[in-house]
Amino acid sequence: MKKRTLLILLLFPCLLNAQGGMWVPLHLEKQNEKEMQSLGLKIEADDIFAIAQPSLKDAICQFNGGCTGEMISPEGLLLTNHHCGFGAIQQLSSLENNYIENGYWAQNREQELPAPGVTAMFIARMEDVTALALLGVSESMAEEARQSQIDKNLAQIRVNTKKEKWEDIQIRPFYNGNQYYLFVTQTFRDVRFVGAPPSSIGKFGADTDNWVWPRHTGDFSMFRVYAGKDNLPAEYSKDNVPFRPKKHLGISLDGVREGDFTMVFGFPGRTDEYLPEAAIRQVGEVLDPAKVAIRDRALKAMDGFMRKDPAVKIAYVARFASIANAWKKWMGEMQGLKTYGAYEKKSAMEAEFTRRVEKSVDFKYKYNNLLPRLRDLYRDIEPYALARDYYLEACLRNNEVLSLAAGLNSWIESYDKNGEAFFAGKQKDAAARLEGFYKDYRPEVDEAVFAALMEIYAENMPEEWGGGFVKMAAAKNGGYSGLAHTMFSNSVLPYRAKMEALLAKEPAVVAETLKNDPAYTFWKTLSDAYQEKIQPKLQELQPQINLLQRQYMAAQMAVFKEKRFFPDANSTLRLTYGKVSGYSPRDAVHYEEQTYLDGVMEKYSPGDYEFDVPQRLIDLWKAKDYGRYADASGRVPVGFIGTNHTTGGNSGSPALDAYGNLIGLNFDRVWEGTMSDLNYDPAICRNIMVDIRYILFIIDKYAGAGYLINEMNLVKGKRKRK
Ligand code: ARG
Ligand code: GLU
Repeated sequence: MKKRTLLILLLFPCLLNAQGGMWVPLHLEKQNEKEMQSLGLKIEADDIFAIAQPSLKDAICQFNGGCTGEMISPEGLLLTNHHCGFGAIQQLSSLENNYIENGYWAQNREQELPAPGVTAMFIARMEDVTALALLGVSESMAEEARQSQIDKNLAQIRVNTKKEKWEDIQIRPFYNGNQYYLFVTQTFRDVRFVGAPPSSIGKFGADTDNWVWPRHTGDFSMFRVYAGKDNLPAEYSKDNVPFRPKKHLGISLDGVREGDFTMVFGFPGRTDEYLPEAAIRQVGEVLDPAKVAIRDRALKAMDGFMRKDPAVKIAYVARFASIANAWKKWMGEMQGLKTYGAYEKKSAMEAEFTRRVEKSVDFKYKYNNLLPRLRDLYRDIEPYALARDYYLEACLRNNEVLSLAAGLNSWIESYDKNGEAFFAGKQKDAAARLEGFYKDYRPEVDEAVFAALMEIYAENMPEEWGGGFVKMAAAKNGGYSGLAHTMFSNSVLPYRAKMEALLAKEPAVVAETLKNDPAYTFWKTLSDAYQEKIQPKLQELQPQINLLQRQYMAAQMAVFKEKRFFPDANSTLRLTYGKVSGYSPRDAVHYEEQTYLDGVMEKYSPGDYEFDVPQRLIDLWKAKDYGRYADASGRVPVGFIGTNHTTGGNSGSPALDAYGNLIGLNFDRVWEGTMSDLNYDPAICRNIMVDIRYILFIIDKYAGAGYLINEMNLVKGKRKRK
C-alpha cells in the first residue's frame, strides 16, 4: 500500500469498510454521497434518486415481483435477466416455437409477444412514515397490542396518503420494525416479450457454473412495457403504446477496469445482517447442513433418472435447477461463514457491544440483558427450527406427491367441514391445480425421491415428531424403497389417468377415496405431528425473538454511533455501490475481475447440455467479427465482478458506472461470498454481472437485431484514459 493511502486509512478507518450495504435511496445525500464520490462517483445523489425531477430511479422497476428490470430506451424497452424472464418465455414457447431452446427476436413491434401476468412496478415516491406508524406505541406495550396499534396507524396513513387512481401504496417495516417507509408505486401489466438469446447463451454453464466465478453466461432477456395512450398503466390492449419512461439509462461501451466505481440499483429480497453470533451459527452449522443433506438426496435421485432418459430430463430440468440453486447457495454460505471468520467477527462485535453497554448507565438499563436473552431463545428454538426445515424440505418443497396432498388438503377436508355442495364447487380449482402438477411429473422419479427423503427424515426427526411413524412404516414394508413402492402403487395421486377417472365420479366417492388415499394419509400424519408438536412452539418463541431482534437492532444503532447502518433488504428499492474487483479466496488463488468470449470457447463442450455453444457464436468468434463491442485488447468481454452488496431479487439490476450509465446486468454472486446475506465481507463477497458489451454484441452481431440498438442511447468517451 502506498504511504498516502495508508495514512488516509488510518485517519478514516471507516473507509476500509466503505463497501457493502444496501442503502435506502431517500437518504443517499445524507448517508452516502460523500463516500460514493470519494470512491469515484461523478454525479450527485439527486441524479440517482429524486422525487420532484426525473432521476435514475425512474428507469428502475421491480420485474414480475421477484427480479429487477430497467428502461433502456425512451420507448419502454426493458432489460432483465434470462432467468428472470424464463417463466414467461417458457409460457410463450411451444414445441414448434421453442424460444427457450432457440431464442427469439421480434423483428418489429407487431412481433412483440404479450406476456400475460408479467408486471413492471415503478416507484413514484417514497416517504419516511415512522412517526405516524408508531404513534401511540410504547416500549412497555405487549407485542400484540403494539402490532394492532401499528396496523391501525398504517390503515390511517393509507387513507390519508394522496395518490392517483393508477397508483398503489406499500408500507414496509425497516430495521426490524424500528422504522416504516411508504412507497407510492405504479404497476404496468401490459409487458411484451421482445427477445432473448438461446439457452446455450442465456443459461450457458447452467447449474455447474451457477454461483461460480469465472462465469460466461449471457443471462439477459428483453421485454417492452406498454401503456395506455395517456402513458399510464393499462390492462393489455392491442391499442396500447410503448411506455415513455421519465428516464431511461444511457449505455456505456467504455467497459470497466479493476478499481472502477460501480453501483447496482434494484430490489434486493432479504438479508439478515444484524443477527447475533448464536443465530448465524445456527444457520451455518445446523440449518444449512440439514437442508443441504436433504436436497443432496433429492437431487441425486432425480439426476439418476434425468441421465437415463432425455424426456425426463426435459420435464425435470427447471425443477432440478430451482432445487439446486438454493442447495448450492446454502453450501457456499455455510462454508463461507466458517472459512472467513464470520463467527469470530460477530463475537468480537458482541464483546465490544457488551463492554460499551456495561460502561453506560443509560445503555445498561436498556440493553443489559438483550444478548443473553437472544442467545437463550435461539438455543430454545433450535430443535423446532430444525424440525420445521425437515418438514418443509422433505414433505413439501422437494417431494411432489406429498406437496400435492398438502395442496389438496383444505379441499379434501371441506367435504366434512363445509358439505358436499361446497366440495363439488371447488372441484374445478382442484382440477386446475392437477393440470399444472402433472405437466412435468414422473411418478417413478418422485417415488425414488420419496424413498430417499423419508429415510433421512426418519433418521433425523425425533420419534414423537413424525420420525417414529416413518420408521415404522418403512419397517413394515421392508425398507424405504418398499415403503415408497407400496405407497405409490396404492395411491391415485401420482397418476393423472387415475385421478381424472376419480374426479369424474360422485363427490362423495371422490372425497371418500382421497381421504383414505395412502399418500394423503401419510402426509396428513406428518403434518398433524408438525402442527401439534412443532408449530405451537415456533409460534411461542418466534415473536419473542422478533421483539428482541427489533430491540437489538435499535441497540446496535445506539451503541455504535460511529457506524452507519443500512436496513436489511426487504424487497424495496436499494442502492449498493463498490468497485470492480477480483478476489483471492484461498492461498495462491486469485480471480481476475473480467471474463471474455475466449473463455466461453474454453468451456465449450459439444453436445453437453450445459456447455454447448451455438455454431453462429463460434463462427463470429473465429472470424473475430466483433463490431464495436471488443475492448482495447481486441476481445469481447462477457462478465465482471465487483464489491456491490447484492442478494436474490437483485437479478436483472443494472450495474452503473460513475456517471450512472449502464455497464452491466447483475445476475449472481460468487460461491465463497454467498454468506453476504448474513455477513458481508468486502474481501470475499462479489456480485457477478454480464458485461453490457456482451449483451449488445449478442443482440447486434449474433441475433442481427441491431434495430433495437438504434433506440438505445449509447454514450461514449466520458472516461478519462490514464
Ligand atoms: N444463482 C442465481 C440466482 O440465485 C441464478 C439462478 C438461475 N440459474 C440457475 N442455473 N439456476 O438466482
Ligand atoms: N440470481 C439471484 C436472483 O435471482 C441474484 C443472485 C444473488 O442472490 O445475489 O435474484
